[in-house]
Amino acid sequence: MDFKNKIDLNRLPKHIAIIMDGNGRWAKQQGEQRIFGHHNGVSSVRETTETAAELGVKYLTLYAFSTENWNRPKEEVEALMELLVHTISKETPTLLKNGIKLETIGDIDSLPRSCIYELNEAKKATAAGDRMTLILALSYSAKWEIIRAVQQIAEAVKDGSMQPNEIDESVFASKLCTAGIPDPELMIRTSGEHRISNFLLWQLSYAEFYFTEVLWPDFRKEDLYAAIYDYQNRERRFGKTSEQIQ
Ligand code: FPP
Repeated sequence: MDFKNKIDLNRLPKHIAIIMDGNGRWAKQQGEQRIFGHHNGVSSVRETTETAAELGVKYLTLYAFSTENWNRPKEEVEALMELLVHTISKETPTLLKNGIKLETIGDIDSLPRSCIYELNEAKKATAAGDRMTLILALSYSAKWEIIRAVQQIAEAVKDGSMQPNEIDESVFASKLCTAGIPDPELMIRTSGEHRISNFLLWQLSYAEFYFTEVLWPDFRKEDLYAAIYDYQNRERRFGKTSEQIQ
């Protein structure tokens, strides 16, 4: 089906978040090592980023490396970090050309020095991009982020700069890595897994979830169009009744 022409450009999700899954299985299907899948996943990152920006999506968050991913075999972690460094430095001119600003969420200080350096350079170079913001979740987990926010709030209460009764949703959200970024309306997960895997637990409270069997290295623009079309055919009630929404 031609999903692109069916998408209503006036009702696009402003923010799409993606759990890119299935690289390892894709590589295995080809009789290759897992890292081969990650390398091929970069083409999907590129195509998805370009397509989202072309459509007019304002924020795209990609779950590239979770806190739990540190527990993978050392060689895979090292290869992923190398791939990240290489990809960021190679793709920065394209981001710049397309008005895409790079941001990160997660425990960036825990990444290798070369990675931190490339990320900082790319963030500085693309800071003026106003077409779309690409947010890479790196060494990220929602529980880590929430605990960190709680610690910051506890410190503020302890030093007297905040009263407990001043803590509300907006104060809490302002302490998350995503402060200032609207919550995703659509969350896509590839590879047939139906889990949230410690991703944006607070921010996805009212997101629509879209699961596809497609493995991440096979994810192409048509798959993104299909997800957005599916999203546009959902009724988002936010706790109200269907009649109230009409
Ligand atoms: C999940 O597949 C994928 C990852 C943990 C890494 C994603 C990284 C990339 C696509 C490449 C680099 C990214 C950027 C943003 C430059 P998996 O390994 O869990 O697959 P499996 O479930 O089949 O084992």
